Amino acid sequence: MNFAVIGHPISHSLSPAMHHANFKSLGLDYSYIALDINPNHFHHIRDIMAEREIDGFNVTIPFKTAIIDYLDEVDDLALKMGAVNTVKIVEGKWTGYNTDATGFIESLPPKEYSHVLLIGAGGASRAIAQGFAAKGADVTVANRSPERLADWPFEVHKITLDDIERFADRADLLINTTPVGMTGFEDEMLYDFKSVHPDAVVADIIYTPSMTPFLKLADRLGLTTVNGLGMFINQGAQSFEIWTGLKADRTAMTECVKNYL
Ligand code: ATR
Repeated sequence: MNFAVIGHPISHSLSPAMHHANFKSLGLDYSYIALDINPNHFHHIRDIMAEREIDGFNVTIPFKTAIIDYLDEVDDLALKMGAVNTVKIVEGKWTGYNTDATGFIESLPPKEYSHVLLIGAGGASRAIAQGFAAKGADVTVANRSPERLADWPFEVHKITLDDIERFADRADLLINTTPVGMTGFEDEMLYDFKSVHPDAVVADIIYTPSMTPFLKLADRLGLTTVNGLGMFINQGAQSFEIWTGLKADRTAMTECVKNYL
């Protein structure tokens, strides 16, 4: 079978190496390529995939929303998120899914998270917020600019960064979804955790560096921390499972990605 990831730019994607590590571990002679699609040519996407006999592909920035117009069917959760990161092609029929939020949730210590506080309101935040809302959690999103939250299509509490302190004590999960703390990003950390419950889990969707200042401070205060590596591995593993019905080897995928970090 043939798989791909599409994006623009895409040259630094670790997905091909990660998926090949999984194929190798399972003894599968499958391919997975990175395709840099010029946004001006995106309307040819179905021809591009047909020509390469692609059976399934991942979608990354900037096409996660645009791809929806080219699908025959969209999974309910992905439709609510307004973002698709996984497309399965069966006999020319394209179905879209989103494994970002489920991949993130799989990376957390397994327990019920009923009050989730997200910092940042970009695409990743929106997917994760919807993922938790679908599980019945109470979701609060704090964002620097309130306008960004105005058109969110479901009920979350919408707050500013200054309000975090007031909402944090009831959160059992805090997640940074902003680029603050990413290697090469200069801005300062957002939060000091003074009012956070001691049992709360603190997560960041960033995985380079493995410990952002956000996570380091939480760790120093004795809170459980989770970085974004598990989310990246699990979203890929779950895509593979959607495409093939087989169980992915997450250990092989993790070892492979760690070699590049
Ligand atoms: P994604 O890749 O998840 O789609 P994005 O669209 O780049 O991310 O969104 C980045 C998020 O990080 C936004 O919520 C942004 O806040 P604004 O809506 O106010 O721009 C937030 N963000 C970026 N830099 C930030 C900073 N220095 N402090 C606080 N929030 C920041």
